[in-house]
Amino acid sequence: MYDFDKIINRQGTNAYKLDLREKNFGTNNVIPLWVADMDFAAPPEVQQAIQDRAKHEIYGYTIRKEEFTSAIVNWLQSQHQWSIKHDWIEYSPGVVPAIAFSVLSFSNEGDGIIINTPVYPPFYSVIADNNRKVLKNSLVNNDGRYEIDFALLEEQAALPDTKIFLLCSPHNPVGRVWSRSELERVDAICRKHGVLVLADEIHSDLALFGHQHIPFASINDEAAKNSISFMAPSKTFNIAGFSTSYVVSSNLKLLNAYRSTQNRLQLHMGHLFSGVALTSAYNNGHEWLKQLKSYLETNVLFIERYLSESLPELRFFRPEATYLIWIDFKNWQLSQKDLKKFLIEDAKVGLNDGISFGPEGNGFMRLNVASPISVIKQALDNITKAKNK
Ligand SMILES: Cc1ncc(COP(=O)(O)O)c(C=O)c1O
Repeated sequence: MYDFDKIINRQGTNAYKLDLREKNFGTNNVIPLWVADMDFAAPPEVQQAIQDRAKHEIYGYTIRKEEFTSAIVNWLQSQHQWSIKHDWIEYSPGVVPAIAFSVLSFSNEGDGIIINTPVYPPFYSVIADNNRKVLKNSLVNNDGRYEIDFALLEEQAALPDTKIFLLCSPHNPVGRVWSRSELERVDAICRKHGVLVLADEIHSDLALFGHQHIPFASINDEAAKNSISFMAPSKTFNIAGFSTSYVVSSNLKLLNAYRSTQNRLQLHMGHLFSGVALTSAYNNGHEWLKQLKSYLETNVLFIERYLSESLPELRFFRPEATYLIWIDFKNWQLSQKDLKKFLIEDAKVGLNDGISFGPEGNGFMRLNVASPISVIKQALDNITKAKNK
C-alpha cells in the first residue's frame, strides 16, 4: 500500500503551492489547497528512475527513443482503450504551451476560439495573449452538474471567424467527464462548421467513482481527423515540474503543422528527465494510480459528509474526475471579496478564487483535495470554527 496519509514537508523546495502564498493570498499563513498539484510523493519507481539518471554526471542534450512512444501507446490502450500509432504522437513541453502552439498553427489574429466557462484560467490567456477572440460558451449549471449549451455552441461555431473549440475534458473546475453523446454532439457541430477541436485531456487519468473518460479522438475516425489531443502524466503522477506532455493526432497534416510551430519556436528539445519520468510513470504506475484514485474518492466523500453535517449551506457536485472540487458558497450571501477575506484571514485556508475561472465563478471557490486527509480535515475544521465564531 502506498502511503498517501504521510505529511511531506515541501518547505524549501520552491513549490508554487507554498511559496506563492504570500503573493496570492497576502500571507503565508494559509493551508494551501489551491494550485493543481498534489501533496503526495510521486510513485517510488519514478523517484528511482530519476535518481538513477541523476547519478550519471553528464546532463547534456537528450532524445526520446521508441520506449517513450511505446509507454504512451500502451498507457492509452490500457487506461482508455484507445489504440493509437507511434507516429501520431509528438512530445510537448507542457499542455498549455502545446495549446498555444496550436492556436498559432490553426488560427489567425482576430479569429474566434470557443471555450466552456468557467474554466482553467490559461484557457482565456492563451487565446487573448495571441490576439484571438474568446467565445465564451457558458456551461449550464443544473443544480451543480454542468452541461454544455449546444444551441449556443452551434451559433458560435457557425460564425465565419470561428476556427477552434478548445475543449476541457474532463473539465476543470466543474469536474465533468463528458459522456459519449455529449462528445458526439460537439464533434457533429464542429465538423459541420469546419471548427477544429483541441481536446485538453490532462485530467483524463483521474476519472473517479466509476466514471470512464472517453478520449475525444476515439469516438470516430472523423473526430480523430478533426482534432488534436493534449495529454500528460503530470497531473496523474504529480510530476508537473518536469514539463512533460505530448500531443496526439491521427491527422498527420495537423500534427506536422503543430510540429512546425513548436520547432519554429525552438521548444521541441525537452527536458533531460522528461522521457525518464514519463516512461517510468506509464510503465510502472498502474497500481499507484489505482490507490491514488481510491484515496481521492475517500477524501471527496469525507468532505461531502463533513459539509452536510457541519457546513450544510455549502454545496458541491461530486466530481466525476480531477482532484478539484468546485464549492458553491452562495448561500452565505457574502461578496466575493468578503468570502476571500473570510477564508484567508479567519479560516486561514488558501483556495482558488472562483472568479479567476470566469464571472460564473462568483460565489465559488475551488478546493484541491489531493492532500493527506488530516490536512483536509484541518482546513474544514478551520472554516467551521471561523464560521461559528
Ligand atoms: C485543464 C488543464 N490544462 C492544462 C494544465 C496545465 O498543463 P501544463 O502544466 O502541462 O501546461 C492544467 C493544470 O492545472 C489544467 O487543469
